[in-house]
Amino acid sequence: MAEYVVEFGRDGRPVEPDGRLDAAAFHRNHQPIWAVLARLLTGRSGDVMEAGSGTGQHIVQFASERPDLVWWPSDLNESHLKSIAAWRKHAGLANIRDVQRIDLADPGWVAAFQAAGGPASLSAIFCANVIHIAPWSVAEGLFAGAG
Ligand SMILES: C[S@@+](CC[C@H](N)C(=O)[O-])C[C@H]1O[C@@H](n2cnc3c(N)ncnc32)[C@H](O)[C@@H]1O
Repeated sequence: MAEYVVEFGRDGRPVEPDGRLDAAAFHRNHQPIWAVLARLLTGRSGDVMEAGSGTGQHIVQFASERPDLVWWPSDLNESHLKSIAAWRKHAGLANIRDVQRIDLADPGWVAAFQAAGGPASLSAIFCANVIHIAPWSVAEGLFAGAG
């Protein structure tokens, strides 16, 4: 497993009893990210995966913007997986699937994702703020898998 260097919930920000974490950056960046992503997703249908979903706040926000797309969150950090699941439950959106535990540095991540019930093909993979904090093998694995 590739080592990560950012873990939410350790900066003193409150953690909800159900495990929902809150990232300060989410509140600053989700609108500008969506302004770009929305354009790229225009005219697309089907399934979108988020790699390295962190707290889960982005995918909940974006899934509410595009309820016609099916959104698949993922991460590998245990407290982040718990937060993503809690945000998904809290949002109650029908178009977000169960969070997947995916290590992007694992060359077998696509096969594992599909074996766990992921779709045979994806319309898009969204990944923000991950490869600059992670080992290079994560960037290589992300692009190899996306290919
Ligand atoms: C800086 S956070 C960004 C989270 C979220 N995308 C955001 O913008 O708020 C980086 C995320 O990458 C995840 N990550 C680090 N290494 C990873 C790996 N090898 N495979 C999958 N996710 C990884 C971390 O657990 C963390 O959730």
